[in-house]
Order: sequence, then structure tokens, then C-alpha cells
Amino acid sequence: MHCIAIFASGAGSNAQKIIDHFRGHPSIKVGLIVCNKPGAGVTRIAEKEGIPCLLIEKEGFFNGDTYIKELRQRKIDFIVLAGFLWKIPSALVQAYPGRILNIHPALLPKYGGKGMYGMHVHRAVIAAGDRESGITIHYVDELYDHGQIIFQARCAIEETDTPETLAEKIHSLEHEWFPKVIGQTIERTADLQNWR
Ligand code: GAR
Repeated sequence: MHCIAIFASGAGSNAQKIIDHFRGHPSIKVGLIVCNKPGAGVTRIAEKEGIPCLLIEKEGFFNGDTYIKELRQRKIDFIVLAGFLWKIPSALVQAYPGRILNIHPALLPKYGGKGMYGMHVHRAVIAAGDRESGITIHYVDELYDHGQIIFQARCAIEETDTPETLAEKIHSLEHEWFPKVIGQTIERTADLQNWR
């Protein structure tokens, strides 16, 4: 059984779709939610779904490795960032090589990097007058929004679109594609044994 940890900082609508997608799956399960924001919507989702939730704080996350031990103890072998707003420290990238996926709400390499998250992205896209946007699912490396791209999907932007209506279009694309792409990526990677 492959065991996913979902890292999230916000409402957790993507986390919910991922949990729904893998409920009852024969070989993949969501075993842990990791959150850096006490009270975030995703913590309530974890509670409702009966999934353990690990709240992390800055010092331990960036300067310690106890949480990596905890991930291993819980037999986590994939990490999925679903609206997680802290940079992933290199110790974690090295502990999970090629096993951390992120979703970004734009067509990378455009609109990526520090400070480019959530509505900030959609406001920048609308302000630039772009005619399309989309989602990017990519591997995580030591740089923000930089690792190898696995999948992109696009949507058109109409004259009447606002950052809010664009956010809705992007969320629909994310909900449609992220769980499937996670599943496909894990099945592909699962062949590579002895990675630890
Ligand atoms: C998603 O749109 C995700 O792409 C974005 O945060 C949102 C989380 O929504 N991530 C980033 O901007 C990362 N740079 P959710 O909490 O409803 O899943």
C-alpha cells in the first residue's frame, strides 16, 4: 500500500478531492494531513475524514528533522502539496527524492516564485491581460515552483473574467486533474523499489 501525506495551508478543497478519489483504492491511501496553520479548513477536513493531522511550526520544519522521522514512522512514501505555502526544506526534498508533487494555479514558468500563490496569481494574470491560464503539476525541488513539470491543463480567460471567476475555473481544473495525475505518478514511480 502506498501512503500519501497531503501538505496544505488553507481551505483544503484539493485535499478533499484527493481523499475522495483514493477512498477505497486498492493500493493508495491518504495516511496523513500536514498543516502549518492552526484552524485552517483542511484541519477540519482531516478530523471529519478520520485522517491524522500533524500541525507543524516553523522552527521544527526548517531547522529540525523530527517531522521527517514522523513521516517515515507513518510509512509515508509520497508527499502531495495542495495549497501548501511554505518552501520545502532541502532535507525533505532529499528524504523524498522524486516523491513530492505540487500543484500551482498557473501555467509555469509564468507566475511562479515567492509570493505567487492563490489569489495573488489570479490577480497578476488578469492584470497582465492574458487570454489563458491553467494549472501545473510538477515535482518539487529546492526552488519555488521549479521542479520538472508533469502535467498542465489550460482554460480560456474571457473579457468579463475577474480574479475571482478565474480562481473558480482554476479550482475546477485542479479538482478534475490533480487526483488522477497523483495516482498515475505514484503507479509509475511504484516500480522503483528500494528508494530509501
Ligand atoms: C490551489 O489553487 C493551489 O493551486 C494553490 O492554492 C490553492 C489551494 O486551494 N497553491 C498555490 O498557490 C501554491 N503556490 P485549496 O486549499 O482549496 O485546495
